[in-house]
Amino acid sequence: MAQLWKGRFKKELAKETNDFNSSIKFDSRMYAQDIQGSIAHATMLGAAGIIDQSESNKIVQCLSEIYNDIKNGSLNIDMEAEDIHTFIEGELTARLGQTGKRLHTARSRNDQVALDIRLVLKNEIDEITDKIKELIRVICNKADENKETIMPGYTHLQRAQPITFGHHLMAYAAMLCRDLDRLKDVKRRMNVCPLGSGALAGTTYPLDRNMVAELLGFDDISANSLDGVSDRDFCIELAAALSLIMVHLSRFSEEIIMWCSWEFKFVELDDAFSTGSSIMPQKKNPDIAELVRGKSGRVFGDLTTLLTVMKGIALAYNKDMQEDKEAVFDAVDTVKMCLNAFTPMIDTMTVIKENMRNAAAKGFINATDCADYLVSKGLPFRDAYKATGELVAICIDKGLTLETLPIEEYKAICDLFDKEVYTAINLEKCVNDRLVAGGPSAGSVEKQIEKAMSIIK
Ligand code: ARG
Repeated sequence: MAQLWKGRFKKELAKETNDFNSSIKFDSRMYAQDIQGSIAHATMLGAAGIIDQSESNKIVQCLSEIYNDIKNGSLNIDMEAEDIHTFIEGELTARLGQTGKRLHTARSRNDQVALDIRLVLKNEIDEITDKIKELIRVICNKADENKETIMPGYTHLQRAQPITFGHHLMAYAAMLCRDLDRLKDVKRRMNVCPLGSGALAGTTYPLDRNMVAELLGFDDISANSLDGVSDRDFCIELAAALSLIMVHLSRFSEEIIMWCSWEFKFVELDDAFSTGSSIMPQKKNPDIAELVRGKSGRVFGDLTTLLTVMKGIALAYNKDMQEDKEAVFDAVDTVKMCLNAFTPMIDTMTVIKENMRNAAAKGFINATDCADYLVSKGLPFRDAYKATGELVAICIDKGLTLETLPIEEYKAICDLFDKEVYTAINLEKCVNDRLVAGGPSAGSVEKQIEKAMSIIK
């Protein structure tokens, strides 16, 4: 496939150079957006009288045909081409002759590629947004089914205070709601049309940049031509937002993995979302959660790649920037793949409520409530804390829990105790008294669910 820039060269490009230089293997996925951008550009060139209206019409018509032909498989993208821009323009010229050669008037591949990536990533953001909304919906459903499922809440992975599984799940919904907001923010700043920046210095043609921006659904045009072609902040911002999504999915995965272990057995994954071992017949492994946790590293790596590519580039376009696409597309594809597997895994997982309840009964997670009981009887909190600590030590010594420790033992430590203490340390009561907004009581979790559902509506 011929290069677009042959004029001043006397020799053919070495095969090794073409293989190294070419981006077609990873930018061919932008063919639809490349054509969409060219259609807008050609339309504007015609409307502004920069090329004949009849030629503009022919170009637009032919570009639509090329789009359909690629889409339905009757035209294959040539993997020897330098990039997708070269391929489409070459095909247009092959079909239209001289007229096809007018498309690139007042345009450079530098502003063209800056446009294409934005168009592609805007779509990808919409797709990822929908997938995250679906995960939030699934989490809200599970949380609603489990707003009374008592489990231990942990700090330092030590049993700490009673919560419900619904409350625990809604923590992830809160993270994912922030992710949605971040994606929206990234898209807003990305939504600026660079076309008209030319190679770097704009153009002498009387372009109507706003018309192109409007045709392509952008909010604005880029403010400076040098920045227009060499800005990749939006790739970095997106990779950063995707990295945080992966942090959240990875933490969630880590918990799923623990909860599936025999040591916890809080949940059981559906057979369709687990795998076995080739040697150990008893095994049922949470591979999906492990892979999601593992794949987070790829996305962080993509972010690092983008930051490193951009940090030392003098204005304006440099070929280093071609490295943007593989990194940002990998981050996008990885997040989409993870969400595709993760969401149905959560949706189909079985919650083993008795095991959560049993774990909650054993870890003295109502000790704070026991101390609060003494506070309600007039004891200062520090003294109440110390008395309860002594009770816990006695329980551990005797193999008892606060629920099973006889009242005489309580009274021996502090004479403010009476039988009501057993009501005060009842786990259901401990949870349901935590009425505070954002807390674990069923009513509070219901409000959290309502809020998350209103965000994804
Ligand atoms: N394939 C190139 C890229 O992705 C397109 C822009 C080429 N521009 C140039 N001046 N060589 O960045």
